[in-house]
Amino acid sequence: MTEINQAQVMQALSTVMEPEQGKSIIELNMIDFASVCDNSVKVELIFPSTAYPHRDAVLNAVRETIQAMEGVKQVTVGISLKTPAATAPFQRPANQPTAPVAPKQLLPNIKNVIAISSGKGGVGKTSVSVNLACALTQLGYKVGIVDADIYGPNVPIMMGLRNAKITGEAPNGKPLPPQNYDVKVMSVAFLIKEEQPVVWRGPLLDRIIRQFLSDFEWDELDFLLVDLPPGTGDAQLTIMQAASLSGAIIVTTPQEVALHDSRKGLAMFIGQNIPCLGIIENMSYFECDHGQRYEIFGHGGGKSAAEKLNVPFLGQVPLVIEQREHADMGQPVVIYDSNGKQAAIFREIADQVVANLRQIHGQQKVSAPV
Ligand SMILES: Nc1ncnc2c1ncn2[C@@H]1O[C@H](COP(=O)(O)OP(=O)(O)OP(=O)(O)O)[C@@H](O)[C@H]1O
Ligand SMILES: [Mg+2]
Repeated sequence: MTEINQAQVMQALSTVMEPEQGKSIIELNMIDFASVCDNSVKVELIFPSTAYPHRDAVLNAVRETIQAMEGVKQVTVGISLKTPAATAPFQRPANQPTAPVAPKQLLPNIKNVIAISSGKGGVGKTSVSVNLACALTQLGYKVGIVDADIYGPNVPIMMGLRNAKITGEAPNGKPLPPQNYDVKVMSVAFLIKEEQPVVWRGPLLDRIIRQFLSDFEWDELDFLLVDLPPGTGDAQLTIMQAASLSGAIIVTTPQEVALHDSRKGLAMFIGQNIPCLGIIENMSYFECDHGQRYEIFGHGGGKSAAEKLNVPFLGQVPLVIEQREHADMGQPVVIYDSNGKQAAIFREIADQVVANLRQIHGQQKVSAPV
C-alpha cells in the first residue's frame, strides 16, 4: 500500500483554491494543521470568519482532493477553533500556544524559525545545525543560529566564535549577534566565561531564549535555526511557545532505538501543530580510504523511522573523522572542505529542507535567494 505523508497532503492541498480570492488555501494560511496517521488524514481549516460564505465549498474541495490521493483510508476535515467570530477581518489569527505563558514573539524580519531537535543526546544536532546553516548560506540565504542549549552551549565553538563577545550595536540600539561564515549566532556562551558552570533555573532559561529572539538585532533572515538540547524539556517548550516555528528537523543515528527516540521528539512537535520538515540520519556510516563502508551504528534507522512516522527523510550524513577534528577548531566541514562530498551532502539536505518548507507553507515563505 502507498504510504502517504504530510508533505504530500500539503502539496495536494496547495491545489485547492479559495473561490473569492483565486489563491490557494495554503497561500492564504487557511490550514491550521494537516496530519497523517496510518494513511488516515485529518485537516483543520481556518476560515476568515464563522460567517464565511464559501465554507462548504472549501470543505468539500479539501475532502475531495484528499480522497483522490492514492492510498488514503479516511479523511476528516474540520474547522479550526481559531476561526474568528463573524465580524473579524479576513486574516489568520496569531497562533497562540495551547497553554500560553507569554505571547509568541513576532519576528517580522525572520521568515522561518526552524528547530533542530533529537530524542537523544550526542547524535549531532549541533554539527547538523552549524553545517546546515553554512550550507543554506552557500545557497544564498541569510541565516542565523540560536544556541538554545543553555547548559551546554557548543555552537560558538563549532562556528569559530569561541572567544567572541557581544560588542556591536545596531542603529536602533539593539546589540548585534556575533557572526562568522556569514551566519549570525546567539548563545549563552557569549555571556559567560567558558569554564563557568551554567546553573540557570527554568524561568530564567525561558527568559534567555526569548531575549535571544527579540532583544538582538537579527536584521532580515530567511532562516533562524534553533539548536536544541536533547529530549523534550524546558528549552523545547519555550521555543514552541515563544516563536511561530515553520517546522522542526529531527536528527537521529541509525540504531533501532533511534526510532523510539525520534517518535517522542516528533510527537512533541506534532502535538503543537508544528510540521516536521524531515529526519536526518547522522553518523550513518564510515567510509575508509578504500571506499569500504562500515555501518558502525547500525543500518537505515533514520530512513525507516521517517517511513514509519510518515515524515520526509532528508538524507544520510556519514561519520567523517576530519569533520569532528575541524569542528573542535571552529571550522564546519561545509566551510573547510566546501567542494568535498560531505559539504555536498549538507547542501542537498539544505535544498530538501527548502523544498519541504515550500510544499508545506507555500512559495512566499522561502523566496529564491538573492
Ligand atoms: N557526521 C559526523 N562525523 C564526525 N563527527 C561528528 C559527526 N556528527 C557529529 N560529530 C561529532 O560528534 C560529537 C557530538 O556531536 P554534536 O555535539 O553535534 O551532538 P549533539 O546532538 O548536539 O550533542 P548534545 O546532545 O550534547 O547537544 C561532536 O564532537 C561532533 O563534532
Ligand atoms: Mg548540541
